[in-house]
Amino acid sequence: MLAIISAMQEEIALVQQSLTGASSRATGGREFLTGQLHGTRVVAVFSHWGKVAAAATIAQLLSSWPVTELVFCGVAGGVRADLGIGDIVVASDLIQHDMDASPLFARYEIPLTGKTRFTADAGINARLVAAARRFVHEDLHASIDAVELREFNISQPRVASGLIASGDKFFSTGADLAGLRQRLPDTACVEMEGAAAAQVCEAFGVPYGVVRVISDGADDHAARDFPRFVRNVARHYSAGLLAHFVRGG
Ligand code: ADE
Repeated sequence: MLAIISAMQEEIALVQQSLTGASSRATGGREFLTGQLHGTRVVAVFSHWGKVAAAATIAQLLSSWPVTELVFCGVAGGVRADLGIGDIVVASDLIQHDMDASPLFARYEIPLTGKTRFTADAGINARLVAAARRFVHEDLHASIDAVELREFNISQPRVASGLIASGDKFFSTGADLAGLRQRLPDTACVEMEGAAAAQVCEAFGVPYGVVRVISDGADDHAARDFPRFVRNVARHYSAGLLAHFVRGG
């Protein structure tokens, strides 16, 4: 069984609408929807924002459903200079950029795990990259309003792999972005849940992947770009990409 998680309802709405034979169960303040996504049994839920919400949701999910793999999908702020709005990032590894128990542990190290970075599952990643490429090449222009594609200057999005930095902060100034780039120069994009999902999946021994589409530049324009992208674009990326993922590329 595949678990699909997003932080926001807008990101997962179209995936949930695509489920056949769906049934829902509400527990712990979340609504878990199960059903078939193009023939694959899935459980799909939105966690709410931030590391605590993601961890609580995923711990419940992995305790209650026989999940064999998990994909977290949604939007992120672009950090790497070559990534623009509409590009897709598959996490090679993930870091909690706001974890700092120094001097007791190294900065970013998650106490008692010995880890500063979590490595996503290589097999899931290869399938996510293949699915993202197919979505971009085959479906993007048919599934997203041309006005929105023009607004965000999206034509042929890139599909990249790299470090995803997660923490309980929405990046919305050039100064904060510059600070993150200086502290963690190999960061591809920033969001608020992925590395928490990774930590819980590792604790449960469940293989996972995190895939993000860039909704904003994590800069002074982020508070303008993010809401429009989430409202009008994000759900098409999630549903289109995951359709290819469950069909096998
Ligand atoms: N998710 C999408 N955009 C983001 C940003 N600018 N900061 C943190 N998380 C985000």
